[in-house]
Amino acid sequence: MSSATTRPGDTFNNEDSNTSNNPHFDAILDARLSRRNMLRGGVGAATAAMLGAATLTGCATSGAMSGPMHPITALGFTPVPKSLADTVLVPPGYKAEVIYALGDPLSATAPAFKNDGTDVDFDQRAGDHHDGMEWFSLDASGRPSATYSARGLIAMNHEATTDEKLSSFFIHADGGGSTLPRRAAEVDKELMIHGLSVVEVESRGGKWGYKQDSAFNRRVTTMSDAVIHGPARGSAHLVTKFSQDGTRARGTLNNCGTGKTPWGTYASGEENWFGYFSRDARDNDRRGRNDSSVVALNRYGRVAGAPSRHGWESAGSDDKYLRWNNGAIGANARADYRNEMNTFGYIVEIDPYDKTQAVHKRTALGRMGHENVSFAKPAAGQPVVAYMGDDARNEYIYKFVSDAQWEPSDANAANRLAVGSKYLDKGTLFVAKFRDNGSGEWVELSMKNPIVAANPDFTFTSDADVAIFTRLAADAVGATKMDRPEWAGVNPRNGEVYITLTNNSNRTVDGEAAADAANPRVYQDMKGSRASNGNVNGHIIRLAEATPASAAFKWDIYLVASEAGADKSQVNLSNLTDANDLSSPDGLVFSPATSICWIQTDDGAYTDVTNCMLLAALPGQVGDGGRKSLSYKRADGSEKRVDTFVGKPQTEATLKRFLVGPKGAEITGWCESPDGRAMFVNIQHPGENTKMADVRDPAKYESQWPANAGYGTGRRPRSATIAITKLDGGLIGS
Ligand code: FEO
Ligand code: CA
Ligand code: CA
Repeated sequence: MSSATTRPGDTFNNEDSNTSNNPHFDAILDARLSRRNMLRGGVGAATAAMLGAATLTGCATSGAMSGPMHPITALGFTPVPKSLADTVLVPPGYKAEVIYALGDPLSATAPAFKNDGTDVDFDQRAGDHHDGMEWFSLDASGRPSATYSARGLIAMNHEATTDEKLSSFFIHADGGGSTLPRRAAEVDKELMIHGLSVVEVESRGGKWGYKQDSAFNRRVTTMSDAVIHGPARGSAHLVTKFSQDGTRARGTLNNCGTGKTPWGTYASGEENWFGYFSRDARDNDRRGRNDSSVVALNRYGRVAGAPSRHGWESAGSDDKYLRWNNGAIGANARADYRNEMNTFGYIVEIDPYDKTQAVHKRTALGRMGHENVSFAKPAAGQPVVAYMGDDARNEYIYKFVSDAQWEPSDANAANRLAVGSKYLDKGTLFVAKFRDNGSGEWVELSMKNPIVAANPDFTFTSDADVAIFTRLAADAVGATKMDRPEWAGVNPRNGEVYITLTNNSNRTVDGEAAADAANPRVYQDMKGSRASNGNVNGHIIRLAEATPASAAFKWDIYLVASEAGADKSQVNLSNLTDANDLSSPDGLVFSPATSICWIQTDDGAYTDVTNCMLLAALPGQVGDGGRKSLSYKRADGSEKRVDTFVGKPQTEATLKRFLVGPKGAEITGWCESPDGRAMFVNIQHPGENTKMADVRDPAKYESQWPANAGYGTGRRPRSATIAITKLDGGLIGS
């Protein structure tokens, strides 16, 4: 969840804790570098060489990640207009069916969802706020398959819940309690609506639906078994009353984006977990004001005395409530939950085909506000590489490179989580530095590359420290502060890496987060009478590497999001029109079947004109556009110029709006059947701007979707998965 303007929950979803004073590339640019020469030929020539290399290595891939079966070279649908209607709009010739919504029962015995706030047993129901999701085929006999397209499992994240004043009001009959202490029965439900679900779906007679009684159906919640893997396993920083040796944890939380591993498991990013914890105003004094733990807690968004999102810590003396109080209130770390927050913030992995195995927390991939994790095509004998964003204002982009080298037979191994341990528990984490000449560097974060924290009160002593306090390590090496890195996706046509930068209200002309080449825009946008400043609408940056494990890259800005009517010299730099203008790109996935790049929005800036949307794109490559020079006038009258590189201007042939969602909803979670003929999309938090006081009055709901689409009982809005198919059964997007 994110937005450019304030919406419910923003306090906990738009974190801004990076006060580090990193050098910006403007400041350390080698003055001898001839910018003009780089622009004239350097980038293009280098990129062409890299593309050749990437394509060659891409030949040696596994069956699980083979190239697109049906690459599409022309978008064949009529663009969907911008819309404020409370419905899902898709192009003519397509249909969208709701198949799985908040509260839907996941066992034969769970009662039907009444949707009036009286439902319980959410550990046997779909969770809330459907977010990232991935497809896993089942064959006709119910065995794992890489190709079967009429039956499969969808694994998805249930990121958060629509809330106001502590309470997840749509799941409580009267809206729930809005003061502390919270009522235990309400918290018990809220603990269960977060996490993950795995649900079996199938197509029968051209209609998609989920199977309530499938033995594969699973819920992972805030209370599920989790095992710590990687360098942080056993660290003193993970010791809690629950896990005296720092090897286990409970649950996963605020899961946002996803990834599908080359060995066929589900990976999920824990994003805005910090907001669920609270420590009282005296906690810094207890710990010692200069204690390293205080430095880390502040850097990760939990200052002493700040309230938690839901007040779960207040609901009673049971351990399941007390664990959300991360104050140092006991005799030592084994007697309280001072370290509980350190057990969140990871990429977690589950085997969607095996619900008996615990959640694996892959700490080698770092601890941050993880969005998603996107794997490069694995090549035999080469490391496994994954790209990740830390979604908060002025945070960083990361890459993980495994120690182990890819063996294609691992794509079909029976013990998938053991393969996950082989590739994801040992490796090296890198953070991105963008230079303003169109090049960049991946900087290693490990004890091999001595890290001296900027704050003298924090010292790195092990790779476990780097894994747990990754942001502090990235600060120390001068990583580039980005405009909220969200999803990463790898273009199957050429291996280039795309990363959405959704928006940044803290980007300014000068100062700590000064406009730079990779984050060049600072402007004002009006929404009615309300002004937003910074990079209001976001952009998508892309990287070209010689091979996925390379330490260097070339970059440009593939797409600059904007309102179509905005100034083309400073804001609408990609020449967007009414057929393809967008704000706040978030989800980004390349179709394995067709190579279409699907872009989803989670916006609060352009929502006076249109609800959030899904667009289809056919991108080119790094260097296909040119230089843009932006000009800013400072208060003292002086000018600041920011030069950047923007990909070729968009047209309806390269970018088109495919779907617009209902009111108050984010569009997220993209996956498809392997044949590319069924696409699944999540509609997250329809009606999220509804007031808690109106919970009993459907006429006052911002949205009544999906009830108004004929799905389910009750009119309270529900996050839901939709299946999209072409009426003629053809490839989606063709
Ligand atoms: Fe959960 Fe960064 O979106
Ligand atoms: Ca506007
Ligand atoms: Ca997101």
